[in-house]
Amino acid sequence: MKVVTTRAELRAVRAEFPRLGLVPTMGYLHEGHLSLVRMAKQECGAAAVSIFVNPTQFGPGEDLSTYPRDLDRDLRYLREAGADLVWTPRVEDIYPSGFATTVTVGGITDVLEGARRPGHFTGVATVVAVLLGAVSPTRAYFGQKDAQQVRVIQRMATDLALPLDVVVGPTVRESDGLAMSSRNTYLSEGERASASVLYRALCAARAAAEGGEFDAHALRRLMAQLIVGEPMAEIDYVSVADPDSLAELATIDPARGALLSLAVRFGRTRLIDNVVLPPSR
Ligand code: PAF
Repeated sequence: MKVVTTRAELRAVRAEFPRLGLVPTMGYLHEGHLSLVRMAKQECGAAAVSIFVNPTQFGPGEDLSTYPRDLDRDLRYLREAGADLVWTPRVEDIYPSGFATTVTVGGITDVLEGARRPGHFTGVATVVAVLLGAVSPTRAYFGQKDAQQVRVIQRMATDLALPLDVVVGPTVRESDGLAMSSRNTYLSEGERASASVLYRALCAARAAAEGGEFDAHALRRLMAQLIVGEPMAEIDYVSVADPDSLAELATIDPARGALLSLAVRFGRTRLIDNVVLPPSR
């Protein structure tokens, strides 16, 4: 496994791999990331991983300075998962002096995470554009857990005619259903126990929709009721949205399906999760 830092080092090593799958990450890796690495390796023959805590996607007062970091541990996990190339750029390798370009995806970034975290998706789209441009992978892999991020990157890749496939891997969950996230490490024992309510709420709404409840307001209320039953949980939003536009729905059209998603705070930790209701045939 080759580990490189500068763009010149990356270019030199990149030439060794005719086909390469890239998994962009911010490090502090968990099974969600590693499942994408294995998928990239299987589909492309070689897997690259970038590890970069991107400052431009954090807002003021967010957790940039405390975001968990442990490069030795990440490299150990990546060796075990069979990664071939790891890029660990410094801020100046991503944003060299004179850097003056930002990528803003319109429309779908106005809602959900985009509405609560102004500038977040411009930071994400810009860094992902740099990572894809520098690595030039055959395919790039992202987790469904960040459902809106996936939509934003797919939109960017289509609009900018990027010559690669964007592949989405399923959310990997702990045994109680909590979606794996580097931020789970912030949770106290009590908060961690309460946090399983996120997936329970999503599953309850999905079951109700599958049972014929298409009133989106009733589904939001059902999720909210379950979450407020956990004293440590504070709802940021619960959403039943169109799977493409991400606009809030009044009624689910079973032929289109829906994205059920939520953001909930446990103390200082903000967690997101989602499930997709697929369109009925
Ligand atoms: O999902 C993440 O870890 C980040 O948003 C990404 C895609 C690596 C961009 O910094």
